[in-house]
Amino acid sequence: MDKFLIILTSEMGRAFEACGYEREKAAVTLSARPDLCEYQCSGAMALAKKVRKAPLEIAGEIAGKLKDSGLFTRIQVLSPGFINFNVSEKFLTSYLNEMLGDSRMGCEQSRERKTIIVDYGGPNVAKPLHVGHLRSAIIGESVKRIGRYMGHEMIGDVHIGDWGLQMGLIITELKHRMPDLVYFDDEHIGEYPEKAPFTIADLESLYTAASSRAKKDEDFKEEARQATVFLQSRKSGYYELWRHILNISVQDIRKIYDHLNVHFELWYGESDAEAYIPDMIDRMQKEGYAYESEGALVVDVSCEEDDKEVVPCILKKSDGASLYTTTDLATIVQREKDFQPDMILYVVDKRQEMHFLQVFRCARKTGLVPDGTKLTHLGFGTMNGTDGKPFKTREGGVMRLEVLMKEITGEMYQKMEENSRNRPEGLKKEEILKTAETVAVAALKYGDLSNQASKDYVFDMERFLSFEGNSGPYILYTIVRIKSILNKYEKMGRNLERPMVLIPHDRSEKNLMLILAAFGAVMEAAYEEFAPHKICTYIYDLSNAFNRFYHETKILIQTDEEVQKSHLSLLVLCKRILETCIDVLGFSAPDSM
Ligand code: ARG
Repeated sequence: MDKFLIILTSEMGRAFEACGYEREKAAVTLSARPDLCEYQCSGAMALAKKVRKAPLEIAGEIAGKLKDSGLFTRIQVLSPGFINFNVSEKFLTSYLNEMLGDSRMGCEQSRERKTIIVDYGGPNVAKPLHVGHLRSAIIGESVKRIGRYMGHEMIGDVHIGDWGLQMGLIITELKHRMPDLVYFDDEHIGEYPEKAPFTIADLESLYTAASSRAKKDEDFKEEARQATVFLQSRKSGYYELWRHILNISVQDIRKIYDHLNVHFELWYGESDAEAYIPDMIDRMQKEGYAYESEGALVVDVSCEEDDKEVVPCILKKSDGASLYTTTDLATIVQREKDFQPDMILYVVDKRQEMHFLQVFRCARKTGLVPDGTKLTHLGFGTMNGTDGKPFKTREGGVMRLEVLMKEITGEMYQKMEENSRNRPEGLKKEEILKTAETVAVAALKYGDLSNQASKDYVFDMERFLSFEGNSGPYILYTIVRIKSILNKYEKMGRNLERPMVLIPHDRSEKNLMLILAAFGAVMEAAYEEFAPHKICTYIYDLSNAFNRFYHETKILIQTDEEVQKSHLSLLVLCKRILETCIDVLGFSAPDSM
């Protein structure tokens, strides 16, 4: 079935054509002035110059043709040339009934199925995940789910940072602390121990110690650089140690992502691209793209139009080590070989813009992907504290993701525990804890996703956790309320085998119906622009519209059974749409709260 807005637009297009105007100008949009009308079309203004007529006159002609259409009511022409109108209740009602019978609720999948690799998460081995990684995980997961809902093949790749200097740092620190480990014995032959000589906690302290030492101690840093080169050339003891580091770290990382309901199709790391580096570099050299400069191997990627300097892309440093850029380029080679994607979408901090500009230009210039393949950086802003500065712990350190999640869940638990004390039925501690976890994840994700990704935003625990206002818990609360009404209805011995909506009985009901009808267009726009915040705005509006309707309408005490059925049918549709939306945002609703 077609999207609601598409039907309105094509009906408008017919009127344009009937007056001899091009139908492409007939786009219908939601009204910018909901107090005046529900929808509008400003096409007459766009035509005026071309056809040399006053826009008001054009709008008048078109409005005349719309009179017989069954779709529009209260058509008004407004200066300088707007066509304002409402949707006929009969048409709206029949559209909603069609939605009720359609598993996709009026949001058809895209006709052209694209393959899109979403590169998100980007955790680094042995470094704790911090709030920056949180944004990538939350936004990337949602964008991926939105694309999948629209029918595309979406492949999420975590792209773990496991091949850079931090690995050399950890290995070197370990060597200083435990020089007798067999991994450092150059004479060793045969197998290495199966069990790692450290835990995840050890790893993190090793990394912290090593990175602060490297800042003060040049020799140590040099040693770490050397260790990185050894690792990258697969020196056996180093490589075995690296495997332990990776295993232990990935187990820990998986746990955190699972808790956040973030799941990857591919668990590749920078190291997996390593195999593609030699050939890639070889070719870039042979074809004359790569050349030596100050001992390093580079590719020029500047262009004349640049208003700021774009420095050459470094493929190999003078010591032979490959860099972040190198692994990103080789990963493109790998992805092209494995999937021939239509697009690779990188959900990474916007401060890495220059890095991606270099990588994309180099990939294009050297032909790593066909011309039609899109390489896109979806850069996100910083999560700030209420003081407006990048989010930190109370002591001013980097906030670890686990700690943050524990804090939020703890706060939520307390709130729910207080609420539950005022309820006669009371809840068990485990139940409250489970619900608190679900709601806390929703609070965190919604708090993030409701902002346009590219903007910085303020992490405000109180606002995020509030049951009122534009928050995750408010949305969940609305869903839970709907579920509870539907349950009560069933307990009354009634059922809704064939949901059906009747003509709306008042403004609040029509308003709710109009918002429900817009679902398909919103989902499509959220996909086109990779903008989960559009879905957040939508479900906030929908929740508000539902709650207004709920307060103004007798539902369970309604005596007319047909009217009652109609109200409940609206609830069913509302619930399905809200649940679909939170699912693509990456969270779920509990049964009770
Ligand atoms: N590991 C990187 C970081 O923590 C992010 C990786 C992003 N993805 C990529 N293909 N470069 O900054």
